[in-house]
Amino acid sequence: MRRRNRTIRWLAVPALLLNLLALPASAAEPAEVMGERLAACAACHGDEGRTVGEDYYPSIAGKPAGYLYNQLLSFREGRRQHTIMAGLLANLSDAYLGEIALYYAARPHAAQPPMTGATPEQLALGERLTVLGDLERKIPPCQACHGEQLTGVVPMIPGLRGLPARYLDAQVGAWKNGVRHAREPDCMGKIARALKPEEITAVSAWLASQPYAVDAKPLDSLPNTMPMDCGVLP
Ligand code: HEC
Ligand code: HEC
Repeated sequence: MRRRNRTIRWLAVPALLLNLLALPASAAEPAEVMGERLAACAACHGDEGRTVGEDYYPSIAGKPAGYLYNQLLSFREGRRQHTIMAGLLANLSDAYLGEIALYYAARPHAAQPPMTGATPEQLALGERLTVLGDLERKIPPCQACHGEQLTGVVPMIPGLRGLPARYLDAQVGAWKNGVRHAREPDCMGKIARALKPEEITAVSAWLASQPYAVDAKPLDSLPNTMPMDCGVLP
């Protein structure tokens, strides 16, 4: 029974988003109205979902819509933990969460200045894991799923550039420590558990040290062969 429910929900996620994406512009709320309604969110996530120079409050502007939608469901359903967000989202319908996701996905991404100060050893290790992974330890390269330029793949995989090192470190650390989960099979959980803490720090430092173009576009389609199964992907 549980499995059946999960399958239905799994199928429902992309279908709901596709329906929302197909709405005529007039059917969705205008951006100004959404912006006013989401003032409570701006208190932490900044104007239009953009935060710069923040380690803890993530920028959500310009992230892929399906990814944002999945995160909102995850906070509401307990796969990710944040008491205030869970409270704000508790009584919102799935369709409205989809509209919120589309609103933020359409806002321009924040331009986070590249980090300085990582050691050469950290940068070398971080780059190796991102580009080559460590196949003996079943760690695929980050590029294999997040795209060669690490700009993500619409609609479910977020880009990894333009994010602060401490945010990246905290998120991968949360997966490793079982605090953050995505729908099963949770590929990021497996990868995070296989990485050593110093490797997570190195890969976060390397990613955050890369220059980031605000107009960098996510890829339109996943690679033909994914290195692992991820439950959030169709
Ligand atoms: C009190 C501060 C606060 C408020 C208010 C808040 N958030 Fe958040 N939000 C956070 C924090 C902190 C995180 C990161 C949590 C973590 O580390 O898992 C987060 C994470 C997120 C994420 C996931 C980001 C990602 O890249 O994975 C989304 C999406 C999001 N919030 C949307 C919203 C929306 C929509 C609202 C308004 C309904 C809102 N938040 C209100 C603090 C807040
Ligand atoms: C097998 C595919 C796959 C590989 C390989 C992979 N990822 Fe991911 N990653 C995903 C998916 C799918 C998500 C979205 C999960 C969700 O919906 O919560 C994700 C999300 C993330 C996030 C959350 C971003 C945010 O804004 O909160 C981070 C950070 C991340 N990955 C880092 C990495 C790093 C670092 C590597 C390489 C060591 C890596 N990933 C390799 C599939 C992958």
